Amino acid sequence: MSDQTVLFPNASAARCQLDEQGRLRHFLSIEGLPVALLEEILEMARSFQSASGRSTQKIPLLRGKTIVNLFFEASTRTRTTFELAAKRLSADVLNLDMATAATTKGESLLDTLRNLQAMHCDMFVVRHHESGAAHFIVQHVEDHVSVINAGDGRHAHPTQAMLDMFTLRQHFPDFSQIAVTIVGDILHSRVARSEIQALRAFGIGEIRVVAPRTLLPQEVQSLGVVSYASIEEGLAGAHAAILLRLQKERMHGSFVPNESEYYRLYGLTRARVELLAKDGIVMHPGPVNRGVEAESAVVDGPRSVILQQVRNGIAVRMAILSMAMRGRIW
Ligand code: CP
Repeated sequence: MSDQTVLFPNASAARCQLDEQGRLRHFLSIEGLPVALLEEILEMARSFQSASGRSTQKIPLLRGKTIVNLFFEASTRTRTTFELAAKRLSADVLNLDMATAATTKGESLLDTLRNLQAMHCDMFVVRHHESGAAHFIVQHVEDHVSVINAGDGRHAHPTQAMLDMFTLRQHFPDFSQIAVTIVGDILHSRVARSEIQALRAFGIGEIRVVAPRTLLPQEVQSLGVVSYASIEEGLAGAHAAILLRLQKERMHGSFVPNESEYYRLYGLTRARVELLAKDGIVMHPGPVNRGVEAESAVVDGPRSVILQQVRNGIAVRMAILSMAMRGRIW
């Protein structure tokens, strides 16, 4: 799959996310989804979250439904918050350990899916190291099954983008007035792609990216962002800094001299945090590498909303699970 395909999945792939009534059926990428539907996800997430920011109340919305977490790649936050979200909605949850699943004995992915469908599973939440894996699965599932992309290769991580929009909204109700700076490995990051699509869809005033030239996609200007080589310039007056990890598992070759040099040039230090707007916040999808993308004191500091992002993941994923199942529950 070429970078061009990864950055701009075809329109039919985007359209297959909706049913004939325009309701969410699969959630694969931000691209192609109407803004009204994205707003509805945030609104529903808000309704699931109590004033204390917790989404503990169990509701019977998905009682009798079975959701399967199919994670072919490591995950802490996404897998567990999807599991909690499904359980809060009273669904039955299966966590398939793909390291011990029958695919390791030669069974194809499609045969594994057919077997799960035979058990009347209603939804697959999929994380896979291959870009396009969730789209591929959508093309092979039965009509009663929904697919949620929990991160595919370097293509998309749309639920992360939505929980980040939810978090941003909590701090900045008027998106048109803010500048958001994404710092780090834009080239290999599925979070960056989904984030940029979401920031554009929600009408963020200014979207900036900061990265070494080697970690920026060639088409970066066409993404509707302003790129900076200097972190100081990129952060100046911004309302949120979204930090990204160096995605070493997706790098083939050397993209930065070493981590300490990267930290010297691009790490978010306490001094650099002061360049943000007075009420500016620090975000990171995790996992965080302290001392590489940010100073430890920044990760734990008063501007950091990193754990708030994780907490918000439950309510936002509850909203997405409910909406994708809507055609079959109400
Ligand atoms: N943000 C994120 O996707 O984290 P995990 O890899 O732990 O799921």
